[in-house]
Amino acid sequence: MQTSVRLGKLKLKNPVTVASGTFGYAQEFKELVDLNALGAIITKTITLNPRLGNPVPRLAETSSGMLNAIGLQNEGLDNFISIKLPLLQRIKTKIIVSVSANSAEEFIHCVQALEKVNVEAVELNLSCPNIKYAKLKSSKGKARIFAQDENDTFSLINAVAKKTNLVLIAKLSPNVTDITGIAMAAEKAGAHALSLVNTFSAMAIDINTLKPRLANVNGGLSGPAIKPIAVKMVYDVAQAVNIPVLGMGGIMNSDDAVEFILAGATAIGVGTANFVQPNVSMEIIKGIEQYCKKNNIKDINKLIGMFRV
Ligand SMILES: Cc1cc2nc3c(=O)[nH]c(=O)nc-3n(C[C@H](O)[C@H](O)[C@H](O)COP(=O)(O)O)c2cc1C
Repeated sequence: MQTSVRLGKLKLKNPVTVASGTFGYAQEFKELVDLNALGAIITKTITLNPRLGNPVPRLAETSSGMLNAIGLQNEGLDNFISIKLPLLQRIKTKIIVSVSANSAEEFIHCVQALEKVNVEAVELNLSCPNIKYAKLKSSKGKARIFAQDENDTFSLINAVAKKTNLVLIAKLSPNVTDITGIAMAAEKAGAHALSLVNTFSAMAIDINTLKPRLANVNGGLSGPAIKPIAVKMVYDVAQAVNIPVLGMGGIMNSDDAVEFILAGATAIGVGTANFVQPNVSMEIIKGIEQYCKKNNIKDINKLIGMFRV
């Protein structure tokens, strides 16, 4: 059976990736998962300088979901390149490095540094709901997340695309009125693929202490609670653009993964499910193949967007 798919010029051996921030830098999972079997590994987002992240508590379980406000804790670009990346590059799969920054210049600096050390693809995290974009002034003069504004999305990706040959995957925010407009702006600007969705802006209150359950007050909701909304966003975006979509949001098993592919996702990301069952990505790879065999589908690409209204 043909299981390989393409995100631009990046060829994955199968459509199953692990979502940024839910799989560390892969070494954390090496005893539990056959890392070589994954279609791709998307690393925890890195930034130019190290970040401590937000104060604790920064995780809370909610009905059918999980709230997090990690705040992009990471050791910074240089440490990633010297310590984490060499180990990642030994794994026989594609490595997609997730990067976030406050400005186009900072994004370009990170992407060019990664290009020099043979990284093939980056996921531009334009959508983290859990950090304060202090320096960023949007086109409307207000600090906000890049992927919440078409012009900001366009100008950022366009600036980066002009300065690199890497595969650029733009990670979009679901915290918008119409994600298709943002997706089209990202495509026009030169993104080779789109990753969606990041977490939904959300909060929870402890009714006994009268305190927020996250020290940051706000967090991002992930897990099964968001899946139907994410499926709709993937479906809408896949109809609107001609570049591949990497779909994610509440994928817990292979049926969920197939649902995203039918909605139009070329590849899928397993996120919160990694915390529930660390080797779930292996079962998802097998389950997708079994589904294809059962339904006499010889090429996984035939399944993409096969859903009809
Ligand atoms: C604990 C946690 C940390 C995350 N960290 C990142 C991150 O660093 N960068 C990023 O782009 N997305 C991050 N995400 C979002 C996931 O990559 C994914 O987009 C989202 O959780 C939806 O998928 P899921 O419902 O399968 O988890 C994080 C999610 C969780 C739960």
